[in-house]
Amino acid sequence: MSIDIQSAQKQFEAHFGFAPTVIARAPGRVNIIGEHTDYNHGFVLPMAIERETVVLARPRQDGVLNAYAANFDKSAQARLMTWDKSAQNGWIDYVVGVAFELSKMQRPLCGADLMIIGDVPVGSGLSSSASLEMATLVLFEQMGGFAVEGPEGPLLGKRVENLFIGVNSGIMDQFIVRMGKAGHALFLDCRSHEYELVPVAFESARFVIANTGVTRGLSASKYNERVAECAEAVTSLAAATGRKGSHLRDFTEGDLESAACLMTDVAYRRARHVITEDLRTKAACEAMRAGNAVQLGALMTASDISLRDDYEVTCPELDAMTSIARALPGCYGARMTGAGFGGCAVSLVDVGATDAFVRELLARYREATGLPGEVIVSAPAEGAGLAS
Ligand code: GLA
Repeated sequence: MSIDIQSAQKQFEAHFGFAPTVIARAPGRVNIIGEHTDYNHGFVLPMAIERETVVLARPRQDGVLNAYAANFDKSAQARLMTWDKSAQNGWIDYVVGVAFELSKMQRPLCGADLMIIGDVPVGSGLSSSASLEMATLVLFEQMGGFAVEGPEGPLLGKRVENLFIGVNSGIMDQFIVRMGKAGHALFLDCRSHEYELVPVAFESARFVIANTGVTRGLSASKYNERVAECAEAVTSLAAATGRKGSHLRDFTEGDLESAACLMTDVAYRRARHVITEDLRTKAACEAMRAGNAVQLGALMTASDISLRDDYEVTCPELDAMTSIARALPGCYGARMTGAGFGGCAVSLVDVGATDAFVRELLARYREATGLPGEVIVSAPAEGAGLAS
């Protein structure tokens, strides 16, 4: 756990004048490989990280959500059953959205005085929003005395993003944040929701996350644009091959080549990224099972090149970070992670070289961009739950 629970409790007491009775937490995540594949019904391989969001609360009987965001020192109120979005405090929408979805599932809800505190960098591709959603879900489960089972929890979080917040994102973030296990990555089939916890057991390598410090500006609209481009590619591929298919998952590299002359250049390149990324993700899962850091690193780098050239979701700062990383001693591979357009890169680095790698990466990144950057070295962490 990265947030000190005792001092968070004290901060809650100082703010509200009484102690919290429920404390829920959920981690952020880093995606190792399988990028922009989830909403195409493909495969992903993320892990939860040792950064988290904690929600402390005491129930209220009047249906009011009286929330305090400690990181921003901001308060906002909402009322259960009203389900309005906040004009000024977007962060409370995630709490309200989770309650709204639970109300549709007829789960018993109550209001709360609640405080949110976290250290997942916001807007950096490490899923601070899924982390808040899944911590909030644990909170309502505990206060209402019910449990949302299996993939239903992550799916609820996805509906919050898609229907309440308005981002057409996939299932990956909420799934790993809710279902992650310490010491493991999670290989997920985003169509069937079958998953496997894969031990991260490299003898001599670890994941280094590097934040460019560029927050994802127009990411929601650019993200939704990519989702729409994939849908367009599916329509062209189905017409060209005469086969039914609802998502890019349903088509192969062979299909793509045979349909190439009937597709726009953009649709072709978007589809090529997604179809080849699924193959890389399955191969990466094998490499991870085998503890083969060289193989996994090469796949991560290939993923990055595809995201840069075909999917076009990197930016100059991400490209600087990944190319600097790849040139440093001990780096097996590096790629952007998350939605892109800013945010973080992740590298697989030899344990013995890590300290020098981090130092050099930050120094050279600053030299190239003028930005400080930030590094997080994290082991795979535990998914959402109550804070003990
Ligand atoms: C964001 C979305 C995910 C996924 C990634 C890209 O994190 O929330 O569903 O699509 O981008 O892989």
